[in-house]
Amino acid sequence: MLVRPACPEDHTPWSDLWQGYLDFYHCELPESVTESTWERALNPASPVFCRVAEKEGQVIGFALCILHEGTWSTAPVCYLEDLFVDPAARGAGAGQALIDAILEEGKREGWSNVYWVTRQDNPARKLYDRFAQADDYVRYRISL
Ligand SMILES: CC(C)(COP(=O)(O)OP(=O)(O)OC[C@H]1O[C@@H](n2cnc3c(N)ncnc32)[C@H](O)[C@@H]1OP(=O)(O)O)[C@@H](O)C(=O)NCCC(=O)NCCS
Repeated sequence: MLVRPACPEDHTPWSDLWQGYLDFYHCELPESVTESTWERALNPASPVFCRVAEKEGQVIGFALCILHEGTWSTAPVCYLEDLFVDPAARGAGAGQALIDAILEEGKREGWSNVYWVTRQDNPARKLYDRFAQADDYVRYRISL
């Protein structure tokens, strides 16, 4: 299992995985948003970045993150916003490898912390619980 930064050639497999991710959340997005997300993920000047998991030459999963400033630390904070592995390739360690790679990168680069949110009942928590204990914060979100 190789985890590496996404590159322009990953556009087609990433798009298929992204559509699977949107389907998982029963969500539809305008194509322009998807394309903007991809462009920002590849743009080194953007705080958005993408890492892909590759197995036998196939891109089977991705993680999209946003590096942002924080008031409680001078070091950058990493929000892991999206994580998805092709259903046919699950259970083989790609999800774990993606998170491991982001944590390693963060240690190397001196980030303050890596965090993510998920639904209370997401079965993926079986994986997440290996990394940390979930805290008791709840999220308030207002659509504008
Ligand atoms: C979460 C996700 C990325 C994990 O990918 P993965 O490649 O299957 O993860 P791993 O193979 O590294 O999993 C490690 C362990 O966690 C378990 N696990 C991970 N995701 C799981 C899930 N969705 N359901 C049940 N178990 C899961 C695996 O079975 C494995 O356990 P095992 O070693 O005892 O067999 C993948 O399940 C997925 O894309 N889910 C749908 C989208 C999603 O929920 N994204 C996260 C939103 S916050």
